[in-house]
Order: sequence, then structure tokens, then C-alpha cells
Amino acid sequence: MTLKYLDDELTVNGFSLTEITNNYGTPLFVYDENEIRHQCRKYHQVLADSSLDYSVSYASKAFTSVQLIQLLKEENMKLDVVSQGELYTALKAGFNPEDIHFHGNNKTEEEIKYALDAGIGLIVVDALDEVTLIDENASESVNVLLRINPGVNVDTHEYIQTGQEDSKFGLSIHNGSAKAAIQNIIQSDHLIFKGVHYHLGSQLSTESPFINALEAVYGWLYEESIEIDILNMGGGYGVKYVEGDTRFPVEAAFNDIIERLKSLSETYQRPLPHVMIEPGRSIAAEAGTTIYEVGMIKDIPDISRYVSIDGGMSDHIRTPLYDAEYEVIPVKRTQNTPANAHVVGKLCESGDIIGKNLTLPGDLKRGDLLAVKTTGAYHYSMASNYNQMRKPAVVFVNDNGARTVIKRQTLDQLIENDIF
Ligand code: LLP
Repeated sequence: MTLKYLDDELTVNGFSLTEITNNYGTPLFVYDENEIRHQCRKYHQVLADSSLDYSVSYASKAFTSVQLIQLLKEENMKLDVVSQGELYTALKAGFNPEDIHFHGNNKTEEEIKYALDAGIGLIVVDALDEVTLIDENASESVNVLLRINPGVNVDTHEYIQTGQEDSKFGLSIHNGSAKAAIQNIIQSDHLIFKGVHYHLGSQLSTESPFINALEAVYGWLYEESIEIDILNMGGGYGVKYVEGDTRFPVEAAFNDIIERLKSLSETYQRPLPHVMIEPGRSIAAEAGTTIYEVGMIKDIPDISRYVSIDGGMSDHIRTPLYDAEYEVIPVKRTQNTPANAHVVGKLCESGDIIGKNLTLPGDLKRGDLLAVKTTGAYHYSMASNYNQMRKPAVVFVNDNGARTVIKRQTLDQLIENDIF
């Protein structure tokens, strides 16, 4: 994110965040559009340089909107969706259904029908009986990948680990279930087996789990005499939220991962597959910032200072849910002595915390603006209407200025499905 202070005023791409919030209100999600494009190009660059046949899909669960999807299309990205709603959004945005693949450990029959009707590019089979469900609903051939579980442990929050043996996702390569699913796919009337997919976990900072997975998967493919055209290595590439976090080193790590893939293909005498990856967080997270207005400030002498903002866990659930840490900075920088403060939301829960023991200007007052950095992924998409809070607006900022991408929810929208 090109967040920069100019004359003590925080700006994005040179535009003042005070002015942007004067126009669009708070809480506000502000995205640096250039940064999103830059991230897409980074993945394309490293994979194009490898001379592999490849595609980069964006995991739309991280954040989706019509304009984002249109931007991704311009950046030559493909798309990973995980629900009818994500697929609907992509189709409405005009995304080519053939460039979309459909994930999910429990796709409903309605979702499968919807995806088949749309002419989706690939369905990623995630369970044995899903083969039958797809086969019964398909009237022509449908390309599928199988989500396998390579049994690789990763170092990240328990809730976002997925590649370990004990998981609701995918079929194990160790207990015969992945092999059985492939046989079912091959014997089905409509499913065409194109290859395998795995996703090891999220917010990973090193290449080693990806290398371990490749080794496990190639050994298994060889032992079971399974041929693949496509290898989808999932997403999970970590970002930097706060000082001390290690951003996944995309260029260096992919060079190593691809080198290992090439050497394993050679060892096991396999042609190189089409490689798919599906980053979500690393495309959107660092491009996004949330701007809040400060309200009540409470000093409890000798204990703590609470700075309340006009949003909270309804638009920022990652701290309550995963103890995630964020950097919070003032939109107007002052020279005042810094003070320690907890920044909290306005929802009715003590766990509604943005950050504890943060350093903020001591003269912070009602009406000032605070920026919470790196909120572009899994914030808007995980927002809720808890306490009947309205979902914030989302704006994109490029070299020409800011524009609305998603409007703020209205009070009427909060009750639009209520029966009077
Ligand atoms: N592919 C699959 C199959 C996935 O399940 C995920 C994320 C991704 C790709 C994208 O992973 P990413 O590149 O964004 O790490 N709400 C959590 C994250 C859940 C991730 C779920 N799957 C959070 O806020 O940390």
C-alpha cells in the first residue's frame, strides 16, 4: 500500500485520506488499486519466467466485488470461488465462467447445478460422494480436479491450517481415499479427471510446506500410477501485518518451488503439468486500509486508555477471531507525545478489539481519524451486521483519485428482508 504522510497528512497514491473520508464517510475501506495490480503482476512475472504453462487464480473469498473482478480480468487472472454467491458475483461482473473453478467441502446440489449451468471451467471435487452428485446433474462432460490432502503440517493459526491429515478438506493421499475418488471420477459418465489440488493453509511465510507437499504428492502420484495435466498448489502466501511478520518471499520461493517441481517431474519421468496457484490474501491485504473516526476516549487512571472507533468486530473480526495484530496510525500526524492505548470498537462485547497496547498520539481526540493498515483481505468479506451495524463503503484509489466500489449499506437494507 502506498500509504504515505505528506505534510503530516496520510495519503494514498497522493490523495489525502481526510478528503477521501470527507467524501465517503467512515468506517471506510480504502484500497490502493495500483497495489492490487502490482501483486497480480508479481505472480505472473515469476511464473512466466519459469517457462511453465501456468495460471494465477484469485481466491475471491479474501474480498470480492464487481469492480475488483473486472480489474482482475484486466490483469489476466483466473478466479477461485467457493459458493454460489461468489460465483454469482463473478458472473455478474462479466467474468468468463471457463476461467473460474469451484471449491468447497460441501457444495450443495443447487450450487453444483448452478455452476454446471454457468459452464464453469473446473469443479474441484472435495468428497467421494460429490463425484456422484456432479455426475447425476451433468448433461455433458465436466472437467474436475480432486482436492487431495497431502498430510503436511504448517505453522500458522490453527483455524487456517488445512493440509494436515485431520481436516474436513480434501481426500487423504495416505489412506487410499484420494485414489478411490480418482477411480470413481474415471468411471463416471461425465467427469474428466484433469489433476489435483491442495491448499495447505493460510498466512504461510516460507516455501518449505510447499516443497514438502510437492514431494509427498509426486511420490504418491508415482506409486499409484496417476497421471495429471493440472497441479493446483492452492494459496496461502503470507503478508506483513505488523513489524516482525515475514511476508512470503514470492519471487525467491517460487523459483525454488518450481525448480523442485521440475526435478521431481524428471525423477518420476512425468511431463510438467499446468501449474495453478490461487492467492487471495497476498493480492488484497496490503492494498487495503480501514479508516475510522475516533469517538469516546476513556482514561482509567494508572490502568489504561480506551480509544473507541465508529466500527469494530462487524468490519474487523480478525482480531477477536484469531488474535490478529494490526498497525494503527493517525491520519493526521502530530508531534504530541505518544500514549499507550487500546483501540476498541463500538459493539457490545469486550472482545471487540482492534488492537491492544498501541502507541498513538497523546492528544488524540473525538473526531480524529485513524487508519488500520493491511485490512484488504478477510475484512470486508467477513463483515457482518452484528448489532445491526451497516457494512462500510469500499473505495478504490488509483492515479486519478478515489471512486466508490461498494456503497455503504443503508438502514433500509438492514430490514429489507423483514416481513412487516
Ligand atoms: N485456496 C483455497 C482452497 C483456500 O481455502 C484458500 C483460503 C485460498 C486458496 C486462499 O488463501 P490465501 O492466499 O488468502 O491465504 N479467514 C481467514 C483465512 C481463511 C482462508 C481460507 N482459505 C483469515 O482471515 O485469516
